[in-house]
Amino acid sequence: MSAALSLRNVWVEYGDKIVLERVNLDIDEGAFVSVVGPSGAGKSSLLRLVLGQDAPSRGTITLDGKPLQPKCTPDRGVVFQRYSVFSHLTVLGNTIFGLECEQATFTGRLFGARRKAAVEQAEDMLKAVGLGDAMNLYPAQMSGGMQQRLAIAQALVKRPRILLLDEPFGALDPGIRADMHSLITRLWREHSLTILMVTHDIQEAFSLGTRVLTLDKSRVDPHAPGRFGATVVYDLTLDRRLAREARLAAAQVDETHPGAGVSTSPEPVSGITIDKINNT
Ligand SMILES: Nc1ncnc2c1ncn2[C@@H]1O[C@H](COP(=O)(O)OP(=O)(O)O)[C@@H](O)[C@H]1O
Ligand SMILES: [Mg+2]
Repeated sequence: MSAALSLRNVWVEYGDKIVLERVNLDIDEGAFVSVVGPSGAGKSSLLRLVLGQDAPSRGTITLDGKPLQPKCTPDRGVVFQRYSVFSHLTVLGNTIFGLECEQATFTGRLFGARRKAAVEQAEDMLKAVGLGDAMNLYPAQMSGGMQQRLAIAQALVKRPRILLLDEPFGALDPGIRADMHSLITRLWREHSLTILMVTHDIQEAFSLGTRVLTLDKSRVDPHAPGRFGATVVYDLTLDRRLAREARLAAAQVDETHPGAGVSTSPEPVSGITIDKINNT
């Protein structure tokens, strides 16, 4: 697989404070990359760079080999932990709004056949995230889980290739979070997305991601905390396919030799390979 997104020697500095330093990353098309790290390590800053909201202070970011557009374009969508949906618009209205902004740059409204197409697209996406029966509700009438489904629909209705998730399920109850995990896994596969997800939940990082990155400082100056930035200190590729194939092969052996005692426990997070440990 080719690297869709590449960061080369990327730095983020705010005044004297170095937040990220020497970040080198290649992210393949179709990867689901979890990003973990201590609070303040620069995880959200990294997402803002990929979104095009902020530019790196040094280094280059390319998408398909071309410099990343220094603004947010429809090829990238984002979902935050708490998404500010418009309270005066219904679920359907909120979802269409994104398309209107994108397609009707001057008037902000779509008319006729284009509006009809936008409504259909929004309805399809809302059904896909499980909000088919909630299209006419207002955000205040919805639970946190439903609002996050709306946020995901808003991000995906523009058909981005890259979906950026910043602790998207952190504020949800555990049961709802599990539902959202299945939803995002299904959408990732069906829409062939490349996902970058920041999470503080290490289990979530490993169970959803095909790759887990840890951002942290690899050097610290106790007298000047802002002197060194965080970088990628661990980069783990999780090969679930190998784990699954091994289990299927084992199950076939089991069929030919009944009672061979093959475990049918859930797919383990195994087949982990440490690709590289950067910059230590
Ligand atoms: N616009 C900004 N101006 C100054 N400092 C900032 C700005 N944005 C983020 N920071 C600082 O950068 C560091 C990393 O922030 P952030 O990327 O939000 O970390 P994380 O998401 O890992 O918790 C923090 O110390 C934060 O205070
Ligand atoms: Mg953050």
